[in-house]
Amino acid sequence: MVHVLFVCLGNICRSPTAQGVFTKMVEEEGLSHLIAIDSAGTHAYHRGEPPDSRAQSAAARRQVDLSGLRARVFTAEDFERFDYVLAMDRENHAHLEAICPDHHRAKLRLFLEFAPHLEVDEVPDPYYGGTAGFDRVLDLIEEASRGLIEEIRRNHLR
Ligand code: 4NP
Repeated sequence: MVHVLFVCLGNICRSPTAQGVFTKMVEEEGLSHLIAIDSAGTHAYHRGEPPDSRAQSAAARRQVDLSGLRARVFTAEDFERFDYVLAMDRENHAHLEAICPDHHRAKLRLFLEFAPHLEVDEVPDPYYGGTAGFDRVLDLIEEASRGLIEEIRRNHLR
């Protein structure tokens, strides 16, 4: 199994969206038995909560169901369990880097590294904005998810 973890600040907007989108894509590719997917937040503000209703609605418009997810906090143990620890923005990345053991450093990446054709390398925090921000989050995540599947196929599945 390849284990993938998406990480943002609250684990109620961006990283659960990435978990939902990537899970659906992996299912469509017939790879569910080979790739395990989870998400977490660097902070505990929303621990135990379902994804933000705006994130759920935006995802549902693309046939992605986030309703069963619940926010949890990233723990140091996640560096042991996961092969890919994918931060949504530089702030999340810096937070994780500060607690990442040297021997796991290669696991830690910015998620948008897997969409190098994009003009941005961060998924912007949509929490204090409007609906368009949540659609933008989905667009970016869909692009990077395609790249991540290709990366996993290349490096683990052949
Ligand atoms: P997320 O968005 O990191 O994508 O889940 C946020 C959720 C909550 C807060 C900030 C960002 N907050 O400040 O509570």
